[in-house]
Amino acid sequence: MDFLKNMALPQSAEHIELLHYLLVLILFIFIPFISMIFGGTGLSLYLKRKEKKDLDENSRKLAKDLIEIVTINKNVGLILGLVPLFTIIILFSQLFQTGDSTNLIYLGVSFLLLTIAMNYIYDYKNSFRYIGNVDLNSGKIGLVFVFFSLWCFVAGITIAVNYSDWQSTGFFGDLFSGVVIFRFISFLIVSFAVTGGGLLFGFFYMDRDKRDYDEEYENFVRKIGVRITFSSAVFIPLLIFINLLIFPNDSLSTSVFVYVILGLFFIFLGYHFLYMLISKASSKFTALLFITILFTILTVIMSDQLVISNSTKVNSAGLAFRYEEILSELKGETGPVVLNGEEIYNIKCGSCHKFDVKLVGPPHNEVVPKYFGKETQLVAFIRNPGRVDPNFPAMPNPGLKPAEAKAVADYVLQIVKENLEQ
Ligand code: HEC
Repeated sequence: MDFLKNMALPQSAEHIELLHYLLVLILFIFIPFISMIFGGTGLSLYLKRKEKKDLDENSRKLAKDLIEIVTINKNVGLILGLVPLFTIIILFSQLFQTGDSTNLIYLGVSFLLLTIAMNYIYDYKNSFRYIGNVDLNSGKIGLVFVFFSLWCFVAGITIAVNYSDWQSTGFFGDLFSGVVIFRFISFLIVSFAVTGGGLLFGFFYMDRDKRDYDEEYENFVRKIGVRITFSSAVFIPLLIFINLLIFPNDSLSTSVFVYVILGLFFIFLGYHFLYMLISKASSKFTALLFITILFTILTVIMSDQLVISNSTKVNSAGLAFRYEEILSELKGETGPVVLNGEEIYNIKCGSCHKFDVKLVGPPHNEVVPKYFGKETQLVAFIRNPGRVDPNFPAMPNPGLKPAEAKAVADYVLQIVKENLEQ
């Protein structure tokens, strides 16, 4: 995945924020769609089996209608499935270009698997044209490939969310780590809620006039749709709650909690519409139900994104800093080496450090006194920072020349001394 990193450009702080907004938007297209592809294919295959066993006409019809509703057509599969995933990879490679980004490997594998899966699933869908000759094998192979594609996708996102304290245990070790497994199972459960909601919405609301089904079949579809949606949505509050517990603690902020509460609000609203749908059997509630499920997912994406942005703060500061560097090079400001300690400090250190308060890094007034009389050690640290305090992320290498590092060290020592004397 290194070629992706090479392609990436250093970003200003504003660009990095923009990247996070773009990610939210694209994930909001990708996740619901891919959830429906997975849930819809799985359910359609299940119904085909049931049809064979019970010779059930309704199951036969629904297996076909369902796969048609969730896959729409092949171009849509490309636009809503593969293109967003590829864009997600590009965005992540921008965000993680200075870190070690195992997450990109998972997203890349996920993309490959999904490309294969989509082909099989559309083959399965198209084979419904030849009644009596449905290509079940394509459906099953497609389902297995989406399954593993989603697993890798979830691993990639989970590593990004837990970026600040992720201890990688190798490709498969990470795939089987507790957090990844929990989030993957959650994803599968949520995907059935989306599929159920999507089925009800697609069947009863979209293009409703085009269908002329008998009442018995409609009742059958309503019953199945409601049952799937309910039996998966009932777990969502618990999943949202556990997800909150496993976020890295230092990445939580008030806004994360706000999104969690909003998510709970939407899902309870969803229960309400589900209930209305059962008691009133009115199709307008299918649209409301589907929208509330989508909004619930949006809140989870937003809180994930906030946590990602918090846990990659150091990385982002490093990127912004390289951007400034390149910008000043372009402006022709490099010239002879600038040896003004204060100036270098403001450019290279000020984004992460202050003397008296904690920013990304610790306040200098607290950590620098141990270097009094040991300037060489400080210069060495600045030129090649190692891990010191486990409560902080590691400081990235600011890439200073020896003389520059010395000038900064002089400056920092002098200011800290002055501060402490006051
Ligand atoms: C991208 C953010 C970032 C930048 C830029 C940065 N630092 Fe740091 N710095 C940190 C973090 C995070 C730590 C805490 C590291 C740790 O404890 O492992 C730290 C720790 C330190 C420490 C304490 C080391 C110790 O032994 O406790 C010093 C001194 C320091 N930085 C100086 C500098 C100087 C000088 C610069 C500019 C040349 C600079 N930093 C640029 C993030 C940064």
